[in-house]
Amino acid sequence: MASIAVYSVKGGVGKTTFAVNLAWCAATISRRRTLLWDLDPANGSGFLLGVDPKKKRTAESVFAADRTPSKLIRKTEFANLHLLPADESIRTLDRQFGRIGKKKRLAKLTDGLRKDYDRIVFDCPPVLNEVSTQVMRASDLVIVPLPPSPLSTRAFEQVVEEVRGSGKSHPPILPVLSMLDMRRTLHKQARAANPTWPVVPLASAIEQCAVLHQPVGAFAPRSPGARAFAQLWTAIERKLALKKR
Ligand SMILES: Nc1ncnc2c1ncn2[C@@H]1O[C@H](COP(=O)(O)OP(=O)(O)O)[C@@H](O)[C@H]1O
Ligand SMILES: [Mg+2]
Repeated sequence: MASIAVYSVKGGVGKTTFAVNLAWCAATISRRRTLLWDLDPANGSGFLLGVDPKKKRTAESVFAADRTPSKLIRKTEFANLHLLPADESIRTLDRQFGRIGKKKRLAKLTDGLRKDYDRIVFDCPPVLNEVSTQVMRASDLVIVPLPPSPLSTRAFEQVVEEVRGSGKSHPPILPVLSMLDMRRTLHKQARAANPTWPVVPLASAIEQCAVLHQPVGAFAPRSPGARAFAQLWTAIERKLALKKR
């Protein structure tokens, strides 16, 4: 089992879009048993996948006691892809972690899912607190979507610090240019400055995910957006394989 966090200190950079599409690639292209674990109280992943929220706010109960999250896991309409949805009850998850006083709670819970899943993808909230610290401890790889702008460069530096601070053996970080539009000067410059970073283009098909409640690969498999996520997923699998050796 390998766990992948999609993380940034900034909101609106494409984290949820990445998490849903990459989890779908894991489940569909790689045929891995995949869990998409939404840690953002906004529950964007559930919304994107069209999984109806339950009335009861129960997401926090996963962390409240030492128990397996399996009761809250939901199936999606896609084979091999399950979802652990978020809701408002985890808005104060950082304080909850503080109260429990266990620095590896998320890592332990993740470990407990090892027999049921091959890949776990975390959709993270844009925070720098105990939640992000625990995510770093629970992840084998951290994906950071970066729309080309000086502000996201700064956000990226903050992520690097956060990951390095999480422990001696911190996970590798993979920055990805997000919402890249090569018609724009700043975007071209960002691409030229980071020629080896993977790219997800600005694409209306990707935007449509939130309207159709499906990953782009499911409804427009040949679109540049779907291809970009498939390529990114291949790069992630390669990185994970290198790490294991
Ligand atoms: N590559 C893309 N092309 C076009 N729109 C995108 C792309 N990536 C994300 N978006 C849109 O940008 C907005 C923010 O994306 P989201 O994934 O919710 O970001 P975050 O989770 O970081 O807040 C959404 O409306 C989403 O549809
Ligand atoms: Mg989000």
